[in-house]
Amino acid sequence: MTKYFSQTAPTTALTAVYRLFTEILFNTNSISSYLRPIAGLFDAKYYNQSCPAKVVSVKNQNNNIYTVTLKVPKNLFGDFKAGQFVSLYVEKNSRRLQRTFSISSTPSELLRHGTIQLSISKQKHGAITPWLCDNISIGQHLHVSEAQGEFILKSNIKRLFIAAGSGITPIISMLRSMQLSELSSSTLIFYVRDKVETPFSDELTSLASAGLNVEIIETTSQGRFSAEHLAQCKINLLDCDAYLCGPKKMVDECATQLETLGASKNSIYYELFALTDNSTLDPDHPSQRKSEITVSYSKSGALSKVAPDTQSSLLELAEEQKLDALSGCRIGVCHQCVCTKTSGRVFNIKTGSISDSGEEEIQLCISKPIDNVALAL
Ligand code: FES
Repeated sequence: MTKYFSQTAPTTALTAVYRLFTEILFNTNSISSYLRPIAGLFDAKYYNQSCPAKVVSVKNQNNNIYTVTLKVPKNLFGDFKAGQFVSLYVEKNSRRLQRTFSISSTPSELLRHGTIQLSISKQKHGAITPWLCDNISIGQHLHVSEAQGEFILKSNIKRLFIAAGSGITPIISMLRSMQLSELSSSTLIFYVRDKVETPFSDELTSLASAGLNVEIIETTSQGRFSAEHLAQCKINLLDCDAYLCGPKKMVDECATQLETLGASKNSIYYELFALTDNSTLDPDHPSQRKSEITVSYSKSGALSKVAPDTQSSLLELAEEQKLDALSGCRIGVCHQCVCTKTSGRVFNIKTGSISDSGEEEIQLCISKPIDNVALAL
């Protein structure tokens, strides 16, 4: 799944203190993102924030989703929790592009075989996802980031999973990781356009045999998410955790419905697709050419309008608006200019990579907008 996320997991007091501490001292909420460029002076792997990943196999799940198995060096990659995602870095036309994908395999496979699997949905007009499927080859080396994300299993073993389309990918990792006792107390509601095209269908059948309550709902004949579908599953929402993954509209509707039916807000966890379907569109595609790009600043309410081929960095644009943007080196080393981009894609002048459209921290001094961008400034 190509994704960008949000998550209801409560921020612990310790995390809040850590973030406050690092923001005061480093102007970023992660010490590692501040230290990596310095470590990169000594070892390129830190500079690139990635580790090599060798392609072991490529397998179609259906006409739209394919799974890439990657062998990663365990000492560089570290470990991960079921439900997390990685950034994948690929070279295309001499440009280094980055996309984020959920890991669909399990932590135990990483331990046993040193492999992870990414299950990737082909985006219409996507710059990467359809191209990668046709151009990837066994033995090829790509790069991946460390695993990230807080959409992970909590301790309550009574679980309701609701997924739509490629939203199944982090959830299949979770299901594959669960013990039999956990499976038999859990339910999966999976929305697919056409049952014949259900990804991971063999595996879902095995999981159902192991005790998981599996409801596959065909949207073309049974419609999209509704309260009736939930009622059919006869789930006691008062004592289970809900894990939702799919497009924002579906996740919003599910969360609202679950709360209406008595589920606690704190027991609902979710992961979203990109805010819009064009999150991975090729900027060179005709549908993506714009005559003007806007950069909006949510805290100040200011707005910059620039040509799509602007040579100005986001730091320069913010300064033109007389906004209080911190800066230091202005060449991408000190991380003083780190700022939260809440939406839109930016080009990283230093690495040549293009961001995804979701929320993330960026360095303003080395980022140029290639899309309408919103910043928390
Ligand atoms: S990294 Fe130093 S100002 Fe941007």
